[in-house]
Amino acid sequence: MARNIVAITGASSGIGAAFARKLAATHDLILIARRRDRLQGLASEFSDAHGTNTEILEADLTLEADIARVAEHIGADPRLVLLVNNAGFGTRGRFWDVPLEAQQQMHRLHIMATLQLTHAALRNMVPRDYGAIINVASVSAFVRVPGTVSYASTKTWMTTFTEGIYLELKSAHSNVVVQALCPGYTYSEFHETLGVQRETLGSPALWMPAEEVVDASLAGLGRRKLFVVPGWRYRLFTAFVSKLPSALRLQLQAASGKARSRQLELTVQVPATAKLPPPDRT
Ligand SMILES: NC(=O)c1ccc[n+]([C@@H]2O[C@H](COP(=O)([O-])OP(=O)(O)OC[C@H]3O[C@@H](n4cnc5c(N)ncnc54)[C@H](OP(=O)(O)O)[C@@H]3O)[C@@H](O)[C@H]2O)c1
Repeated sequence: MARNIVAITGASSGIGAAFARKLAATHDLILIARRRDRLQGLASEFSDAHGTNTEILEADLTLEADIARVAEHIGADPRLVLLVNNAGFGTRGRFWDVPLEAQQQMHRLHIMATLQLTHAALRNMVPRDYGAIINVASVSAFVRVPGTVSYASTKTWMTTFTEGIYLELKSAHSNVVVQALCPGYTYSEFHETLGVQRETLGSPALWMPAEEVVDASLAGLGRRKLFVVPGWRYRLFTAFVSKLPSALRLQLQAASGKARSRQLELTVQVPATAKLPPPDRT
């Protein structure tokens, strides 16, 4: 009998691969990422272990044509029951120091790909009144520190977008479920790609295995939870920070940003000889 299908972006490592491993026993899969060899490895692992049918879509989701191709594919499959918009990356440095192209790519991946794939999936799921979408955001959607401007703002967009879809589905009395998954530090290839050593980013108690993040997400899906923040420390912290008056919140974020700036070895790249405008005394 044909099984239901789950589509996962960024399935070649970390949280995306953990979603795939968790769901491969009960679902067929569409795995999406740039590294085909990694996806092929997972597909053979799942086929041997569970007889899973896995479709591999090699795609760079910062490219319009690739986003459109993937959207068309998932929009057309009547067995689609879950889309996980998970592909993502971070950048390192202050906004003006990080090349604009990297930040534009991040906006395309976190925002345009999520927007277009969610649109395609909902047009497929809503008429059937069945299915779910998980958008992998971050605790950075609630806590912003220097060095994460584009990352935090695109992840904040993801949570706001998911909340908006939640309200529209509710107003349409739809059974389709959406979730904004907001992990904190998670063991994956994310920080390796970023070129940051995990040890410099705080206590090991703050780090969670990708499998635990996925377990929390799927448990939350069963309870139709809109926001899932895995780990009690992060739940406590995000709840606390969101309730602070903005002046206090900014102070706290600036203080944690000072430490982070040192860890990320941020430098303001202004030549010593550059003429600076006079200080703003308004
Ligand atoms: N790790 C953390 O501490 C943490 C915390 C909060 C939120 N998150 C979020 O969790 C999500 C998954 O990250 P992770 O921690 O699992 O990191 P990861 O191991 O680096 O995985 C990132 C995934 O995204 C894919 N990807 C990156 N750029 C892509 C592109 N242009 N097109 C298609 N796929 C692309 C990568 O695949 P290819 O390289 O093969 O394309 C990879 O499968 C991200 O959205 C991240 O922001 C992570």
